Amino acid sequence: MPPGAFALPKAELHLHIEGTLEPELIFALAERNRLTLPYPSVDALRRAYEFTDLQSFLDLYYAAMNVLRTERDFAELAEAYFVRAREQGVVHAEIFFDPQAHTARGVAFETVIDGLWSAVRESERRFGISSKLIMCFLRDRSAESAMATLDQALPYGERIVGVGLDSAELGHPPSKFARVFERALAEGWKTVAHAGEEGPPAYVWEALDLLKVSRVDHGVRSLEDPALVARLRDERIPLTVCPLSNVKLRVFEDLRRHTLGTMLDEGLVATVNSDDPAYFGGYVGDNFTAVAEALDLAPSALVTLARNSFEASFVDTATRERYLALLDAAQPERAAQV
Ligand code: HPA
Ligand code: ZN
Repeated sequence: MPPGAFALPKAELHLHIEGTLEPELIFALAERNRLTLPYPSVDALRRAYEFTDLQSFLDLYYAAMNVLRTERDFAELAEAYFVRAREQGVVHAEIFFDPQAHTARGVAFETVIDGLWSAVRESERRFGISSKLIMCFLRDRSAESAMATLDQALPYGERIVGVGLDSAELGHPPSKFARVFERALAEGWKTVAHAGEEGPPAYVWEALDLLKVSRVDHGVRSLEDPALVARLRDERIPLTVCPLSNVKLRVFEDLRRHTLGTMLDEGLVATVNSDDPAYFGGYVGDNFTAVAEALDLAPSALVTLARNSFEASFVDTATRERYLALLDAAQPERAAQV
């Protein structure tokens, strides 16, 4: 069992389930679904994971998920994630899925959500990992398409804790989806949004003011705007930071240049997450280990990050208390071993 922050009890709050599709599973599903891949081998596919920005990643991400066709495919995808997550200290996960990326290629919404839901229940039963689903809208598609997706999700409202916004950020500000999010809030869903990954601080302001988000996904560019930092700190709006993702997508040129430490120093409720771990070089425990080393974070900072993950999660109060007690019981001995 690896020591330290890797295994510290934690919640993962920024995880695209389609981004957990490992190359081996891509090949296995392609074979089962009788599809031909444009790569001769797992290794050749993995070698293509060199990205210059968010869009260069998204192109591959959407192409690869084409192998997901059946309810069983979605269930196996999520089951494989939970096995990895458990090894890395995850006791609770809030999982994004991208229904439009599937319905647009003829896979029914029901197929996607039934497959994911069966894995959610199975992981609770087998591993005691709790989890929730967050439905993301693709911001580079129209607001009408997002609204139609919201309609499709209504019969499954109980299985979904909230809605989010992902895909290509630049040129697609949160304001584009103000009405969709207003409706989601009226339906009782929480809201989150990717903002300030590649986009400017103005997009984070819009996410807060127009989409009424409970958390900001990424949000790293918020540090460019002191008034925004003050707002995030004063209102304790969590940021779901994804360090290895940020380096792979060249938001930061090097992990040692990452501003996660500054965020903590500024009193922001920052959390550490894996985003698309199959593509970015590690799951959430790997992200903890990498930032601990690159940023020379103190054991207390790592515990703060784990605490923040529970504070920022959508679990009920009793569950949050239970997880915080688990964390208290697990440290500081373990965190000191990083
Ligand atoms: N950013 C935006 N959209 C995404 C990402 C991301 O990092 N991963 C999957 N969809
Ligand atoms: Zn993301």
